[in-house]
Amino acid sequence: MNAKPGFATRAIHHAYEPLENGGALTPPLHLTSTFAFETAEAGGEMFSGDRQGHIYSRISNPTCDLLETRIATLEGAEAGLALSSGMGAITAVLWTLLSPGDEVIVDQTLYGCTFAFMHHGLAKWGVTITHVDMTDPENLRNALSERTRVVYFETPANPNMRLVDIAATAEIAHAAGATVVVDNTYATPYLTRPIDLGADLVVHSATKYLGGHGDVVAGLVAGSAEQIAEIRLVGMKDMTGAVMAPFNAMLILRGLKTLALRMERHCASARTVAEYLEAHPAVRTVHFPGLDSFAQRDVAARQMAQPGAMIAFEIDGGMAGGIAFMNRLDMIQRAVSLGDAETLIQHPASMTHSTYTADERAAHGISDGLIRLSVGLEDIEDIIADLDQALPTPARHAAE
Ligand SMILES: Cc1ncc(COP(=O)(O)O)c(C=O)c1O
Repeated sequence: MNAKPGFATRAIHHAYEPLENGGALTPPLHLTSTFAFETAEAGGEMFSGDRQGHIYSRISNPTCDLLETRIATLEGAEAGLALSSGMGAITAVLWTLLSPGDEVIVDQTLYGCTFAFMHHGLAKWGVTITHVDMTDPENLRNALSERTRVVYFETPANPNMRLVDIAATAEIAHAAGATVVVDNTYATPYLTRPIDLGADLVVHSATKYLGGHGDVVAGLVAGSAEQIAEIRLVGMKDMTGAVMAPFNAMLILRGLKTLALRMERHCASARTVAEYLEAHPAVRTVHFPGLDSFAQRDVAARQMAQPGAMIAFEIDGGMAGGIAFMNRLDMIQRAVSLGDAETLIQHPASMTHSTYTADERAAHGISDGLIRLSVGLEDIEDIIADLDQALPTPARHAAE
């Protein structure tokens, strides 16, 4: 094999040798909760950290290990950690890093359950949550305080596609001694590698593009070996218990094998869909990093290999118009989640971001008419045809 295999090759082969596993091409599934110790002393040494080895699957498991090694190589990190869900990953990281009295600074827009965890979870335990408009990194400089332990953001942000300049933001956060955590779910390491750009930790909902088939809920973290060891033993083992099942690790390992291939198709189709929507007379605004009209196009060009496959848009008629349009769709599925083979559409204000109050949504840039589209892997002609028959037309307006 090449001394430096490429992304797709590592996603398929990294850290697994069939001939060391009885010739099995596919890595074995270690369905075991616990592991036998050679001697009582050996078990004790594993607990004290003087000997390497598996103890119990809430700490580590060989199938999860392989996935952890793979996400680490794909993200350019020293180590990875597999958890039960994206929320399991986010909560395990933040419970580990934060203590009462600390502050976490977050961007204006966050996925609905992350927002809820911050405001209804962390805040209850004495952590201050400060929202800053990180589309301008200088805003962060002005907001940092001696209590700021963590700077956390999504880029692109769910659901309104705001971007945060990772390199500029990390530099400012590090000067104040804060740890930078980036939710890389939308971009995946195929498009953006936050650690190469200066971030400390990357979190994923692996439920999305990494799994890729809509059949598993899973989370991943990547970062330094030291930080990952701490998150494993504190955030995952003790504070959340949000451990990934080995079978789910198998599904994510399988998904990763085609990540590069799928992302190419997702991205190509999304660009066509975004251009189609922007040209449609009933569409008011389209937020997609690949469009000339996208305000942060320069940030996208700096840190995304391609603009991704998520689109946010608004159509004539506001929220009612959007709901009527979604109900006319035929092939495209009305469903939350994203990154699946199927094209999925949802209405953030009433679905994924209903954890915000109406006032909070208004303050955080999530308009009631916004529609979120995850462009899937179907034939592009079929995706466009379905959108086309469902979007408002003058004749339809007259009839409604
Ligand atoms: C950006 C982002 N982060 C985190 C999550 C949470 O992931 P999970 O549903 O796997 O817990 C989601 C889920 O939609 C998401 O979109």
